[in-house]
Amino acid sequence: ANYTGPLRPQVHYSPPTGFMNDPNGMFYLNGVFHLYYQYNPTGLGAGNQHWGHATSKDGYTWENQPIALFPPEEKQYVFSGSVVVDANNTSGFFPDQDNGVVAVFTLARYNEDGSGGPQTQAIAYSHDEGYTFQYYDQNPVINSTSSQFRDPKVIRYGDTWAMVVAYSQEFALGIFTSPDLKQWTWASNFTDHGLLGAQYECPNLVKMPVRDPESGAVVDEKYVMTLSVQPGAPLGGSITQYFIGDFNGTHFSTLDAATRLTDFAKDNYAAQFFYGVEGNQISLGWASNWQYAQQVPTGNNEGWRSAMTLPRASYLTKAPRIGWTMVDELYDAQPILGESLAAKTMGNGSVTVDYADVASGALYIEANVTGIDVAKATSFSTLNLTFTSPASGESLRSGFYFGGDNPFFVDRGQLRGFDNVFFTDKFSVADVYYESSTDKAAAWRVQAVIDRSMYEVFLDGGRHAGTVLLYPTQPLTLLNVAAGDLPAGARVSVAVWALKSTWA
Ligand code: FRU
Repeated sequence: ANYTGPLRPQVHYSPPTGFMNDPNGMFYLNGVFHLYYQYNPTGLGAGNQHWGHATSKDGYTWENQPIALFPPEEKQYVFSGSVVVDANNTSGFFPDQDNGVVAVFTLARYNEDGSGGPQTQAIAYSHDEGYTFQYYDQNPVINSTSSQFRDPKVIRYGDTWAMVVAYSQEFALGIFTSPDLKQWTWASNFTDHGLLGAQYECPNLVKMPVRDPESGAVVDEKYVMTLSVQPGAPLGGSITQYFIGDFNGTHFSTLDAATRLTDFAKDNYAAQFFYGVEGNQISLGWASNWQYAQQVPTGNNEGWRSAMTLPRASYLTKAPRIGWTMVDELYDAQPILGESLAAKTMGNGSVTVDYADVASGALYIEANVTGIDVAKATSFSTLNLTFTSPASGESLRSGFYFGGDNPFFVDRGQLRGFDNVFFTDKFSVADVYYESSTDKAAAWRVQAVIDRSMYEVFLDGGRHAGTVLLYPTQPLTLLNVAAGDLPAGARVSVAVWALKSTWA
């Protein structure tokens, strides 16, 4: 496969060719992360869904593997789902193994006239830790007549299995239980929560540590339900929301009535958590939006569409006034860090990094603002991170505005974009608002990765995250970090590293 195109991410996963959407079947076993994904190997748009497969030891360096699941019959496609490790051979598929792997997914039938047939839940098992699968000969394991019933995510709960699955257009998540992954019993529904959009998709249920906001010590455990909707996102298209609560094996109940988004920008959908991870939970999402995923210029220009977000490690915290938050940290980025390109502490001032010589075109940037008296900040008090293409004059702008409502913004409106009106129409500014200018809980910290056609930012140590696609017509090669009109006493420390390509 060719990973050299100017838009091709160098530290993110993207498929060799063809169209990718949701991450599927993610699990971690014996030191290897397995990522499957919705894959159309024969086209640059959605359809003909298979499960593509890739593996990684560090979460960043991926190795493409052969396709894991092919459509079992004509006009029947393999939609999203999950994988578990059946260590106790509850299924009976693995008499002599403790590393048996079972995939649980939706089979979506299409009728002769192209209309949707039933979506049912099915399983396949693997004796070789997930490289090859056999379909169970008595599928489906959950039958249905609905054309909108999909995306099972299975977790272990005590001595049983629990599944959360979407009744997409009824705005309900079904919870089922099973002793053996074959026989499933309906237990409850979680209905009409949060943003409904046009449909519910790709739910996750995951147990997460709760950490003390000061010490970071684990003080509790809660469950998080994530739920993706599309269309119907506040910024248009698709987005993922989450709820924090308790799970007793059959019912999920929320701690409060808030709807929280996993991402303040537009390009993070259907994230899944890896099965088999203890402590902070690790996820990655599909870095795109159904609003334009099938039109983005990487298709015609480079023969592939869509990448995954970076892996994120998540825990919960409860900060005063902000309420419950899922904190998304960059998963240990050590393996991809290259040489240091800048390190500077300043008041008002700027740092410019010409990274035209960085082979990957990818950077990791950290900027911390301390000692800022936000009551004295004006609407001109800013910390801006701007990436420019000297060749085309295009830029990607982002930064904190410390006065007023203190938003962090990302603006891709200064990119000329390719000749695709529909696509550029939907490209605009994404921003996030902190609660108020007197909120002492907010730390003005940004960690960011730019990777050719992707930009991911983590604010305030991960309390907010934004994932942004960008398609400059010429590579962005100049970074400027500028602090302006900050009140006296403010200090800004900036550090920039090159990232090593994981595909070279
Ligand atoms: C979400 C989704 C899922 C479905 C899959 C099909 O992006 O629509 O609900 O299983 O994509 O590719």
